[in-house]
Amino acid sequence: MDDDFEALIADIERKKHEEERKIYSERALKEAYNPRNVGKLAEPSGSARVTGPCGDTMQIDIRVEAGRICDCKFITDGCGASIACGSVVTGLAKGKRIEEALEITAKDVLKLLGGLPSENVHCATLAVNTLRAAISDYQCRSQKGSE
Ligand code: FES
Repeated sequence: MDDDFEALIADIERKKHEEERKIYSERALKEAYNPRNVGKLAEPSGSARVTGPCGDTMQIDIRVEAGRICDCKFITDGCGASIACGSVVTGLAKGKRIEEALEITAKDVLKLLGGLPSENVHCATLAVNTLRAAISDYQCRSQKGSE
C-alpha cells in the first residue's frame, strides 16, 4: 500500500469515528467495538434465537447454577447498536438470580448505554427479549427434567 492510500484510509476512519461520536455515547461505542460475552456456550442451560422487526437476529445462551446465571453469551448479525445491547444485557444478566434477570428492561440497557438514537431503540428490546426467551427455554428444560 502506498502512503497516499494509507493516509486516505486513515482519514476515512477518522471521519467515520467523528460521525459516530455525534450519534452514540462513549459507552455505546465502547460496547459496540469491544463487546463482552460474545460467542456461544457449549452446553447451555437455556438458549434462544430471536429475530427483531428489523430482520436482525440475536442468540443468547445462559448457564444456570443454583438459580443464578453464572455464564451468558450472545451472537448477533445485527447492527453495531445491537452488539452494544447484547454486550450490556449479558453483562447485566451474569451473576443475577433468574427472577432478577427477568426484571432487566430495555430501559435499563438504554440507560447504561447513555441512550441510543430512536431508530436503534428496538435493538435494546431485541437484546432483552432474547435474554427472556433464553430464560424461558431454561425454565422449560428444567420443568421437563423434573417431570
Ligand atoms: Fe436490527 Fe439494530 S438490531 S437495526
